[in-house]
Amino acid sequence: MIKIKKVALFTPLLFVLFSSCKTESKDQKQVVNYAEELHSYAQPNKSVIKHLNLDITVNFEDQVIDGVATYTIDNNKASEIILDSKFLDIVKVEADGKITEYELGEVNEQLGQPLTIHITEDTKTISVYYKTTNKTEALQWLSPQQTADKTHPFLFTQGQAILTRTWIPIQDSPQIRITYDATVRVPKELMAVMSAENPKTKTVDGVYSFKMEQPISPYLIALAVGDIEYKAVSERTGVYAEKSMIDKAHYEFSDMEKMVVAAENLYGDYDWDQFDVIVLPPSFPFGGMENPRLTFATPTVIAGDRSLTSLIAHELAHSWSGNLVTNATWNDFWLNEGFTVYFEIRIMEALYGKDRANMIALIGRQDLDDEIESFKNEPNRTKLKLDLKGKNPDDGMNSIAYDKGYLFLRTLEETVGRDKFDAFLKDYFKTHAFSTITTEKFIDYINTNLLEPNKVTFNTEEWIYQPGIPSNQAIISSDKFANAEKVLKQFLSNDTIDASITKDWTTLEWVHFIRNFPDTMTTEDMARIDKAFDLSNATNSHIAMVWYEQAINKDYHGNNVDQNIEDFLIRVGRRWYVNTLFKAFKNNDKIDEAIAIYEKSRGNYHSVTASTIDELLGL
Ligand code: BES
Ligand code: ZN
Repeated sequence: MIKIKKVALFTPLLFVLFSSCKTESKDQKQVVNYAEELHSYAQPNKSVIKHLNLDITVNFEDQVIDGVATYTIDNNKASEIILDSKFLDIVKVEADGKITEYELGEVNEQLGQPLTIHITEDTKTISVYYKTTNKTEALQWLSPQQTADKTHPFLFTQGQAILTRTWIPIQDSPQIRITYDATVRVPKELMAVMSAENPKTKTVDGVYSFKMEQPISPYLIALAVGDIEYKAVSERTGVYAEKSMIDKAHYEFSDMEKMVVAAENLYGDYDWDQFDVIVLPPSFPFGGMENPRLTFATPTVIAGDRSLTSLIAHELAHSWSGNLVTNATWNDFWLNEGFTVYFEIRIMEALYGKDRANMIALIGRQDLDDEIESFKNEPNRTKLKLDLKGKNPDDGMNSIAYDKGYLFLRTLEETVGRDKFDAFLKDYFKTHAFSTITTEKFIDYINTNLLEPNKVTFNTEEWIYQPGIPSNQAIISSDKFANAEKVLKQFLSNDTIDASITKDWTTLEWVHFIRNFPDTMTTEDMARIDKAFDLSNATNSHIAMVWYEQAINKDYHGNNVDQNIEDFLIRVGRRWYVNTLFKAFKNNDKIDEAIAIYEKSRGNYHSVTASTIDELLGL
């Protein structure tokens, strides 16, 4: 007998703070400490998933995934197991192959619904038969027109932070780690890839099998389906992309293997065997997403000159900080992103030298200053350790975690010295491999393993728990940026522009030059610079984005820039870019223009971008 009953909305804060419990396995008792979890209904101390077997069919006609998720569970004599789900159509549930009762709670706008499944103390597996719906937020179904080749549809998922539950019923907390295998059925003309061991060619029947043998957090389960092919860069690195993009992607990311080698030399072996990147259609809402073994990337990083590849270094770095050692909760998000930015910049330094590394760090430093300014009325949001109670984890996903996190680690490195810091970090990754870490555990660890043995005092707690930036911050400088600022002044004080001065500039110098336009700059100045460098038609997405932002700020309309901004916003769904430009419209009282464009572009955006812009524009 199946009973589906609506249960009343109850508080979602269900993991007990550091509840210590004994997980009984046949041979021994294991103590598991879970940190307080604000964003999952799961109660892993009662019964927790260990392995997922996913068996699904991807139906492009109806835009539905349907199938069954079977979990092997670690059952602590529980009478129920609670999964997270959101807007899923639950068909039936089994415990050890027999139909069992379940309750699906009411929908909480952010967290979704608890799916409470009745089990007995002997239950070893549960199976949930389900279908996704048209409200499934993780998925973006693209028409052929929205892809690079324009011939076949495409589908990709985005799990971080709490969207995996929208396409798979699961205990969706970063503190939970599972292995998985999957069978995925797709139309014969398409290939499926996951954050797992992947195919390199299409199968004849469109049936694909996957295995992820290292335990990962649920937000890292990912799937992409499209008419894609694979091209190896080295034995363990390579790219997936549509036909018209594959050679460009291969050229752009030709240093992938060198990046992996540099990363391994810094902080220990790459534990995931393969490191591939899939270049997705332009609506992908992030620059990159570190899905294990297969980073998902925006095509906007394909600049043709390998100038934006620090993004690959960033996603690769997550193979250590994030995927191997994972933030226990979204309040500890800075442990994922701050470490990753630090590691990214170290990889870039190892490959291309200190100049480039410092320019990347300084761009981040400027982002940090801008973010702190934007939070001037909410200083608590500038703390590294967050308090996301009642909030969507997305609220914490700003420059503070990334760039203040970076600055903290760089300051620490400069205080203790690089050799000691590197040895410490290598050890940190090794000690915590395949586990999760809270900010508090990290502070203990740093005290015991870095500061005390080296007799260093450091204001760690101020950096982590106080707003703003402590005064012992590392000072980052770049001669190349100083020069770009000088050139800018010169251009603004002279009538003529000597374009040859900039001939050796890299993308980073252009970005810095443009972002530093003073308030006094006029539309005539914009026009002169545009005439000399044709920035309104820049093909490098980062340069274009910062130029467009200035065009909106300075009310500049020359050289087809308005049309280019509109086309860009319609084609590209990368949230950071889109949000920057819509924010510029809003801050300059151009909300009508923003809404007119958004009416045309919204349909192309993934739900995470659309919901950010809906909120920004008050829709
Ligand atoms: N893991 C993030 C993307 C993310 C963060 C997705 C939070 C969902 C919630 C990824 O590693 C990232 O930081 N991407 C950046 C790349 C950049 C910092 C090089 C991006 O998308 O812009
Ligand atoms: Zn990241």
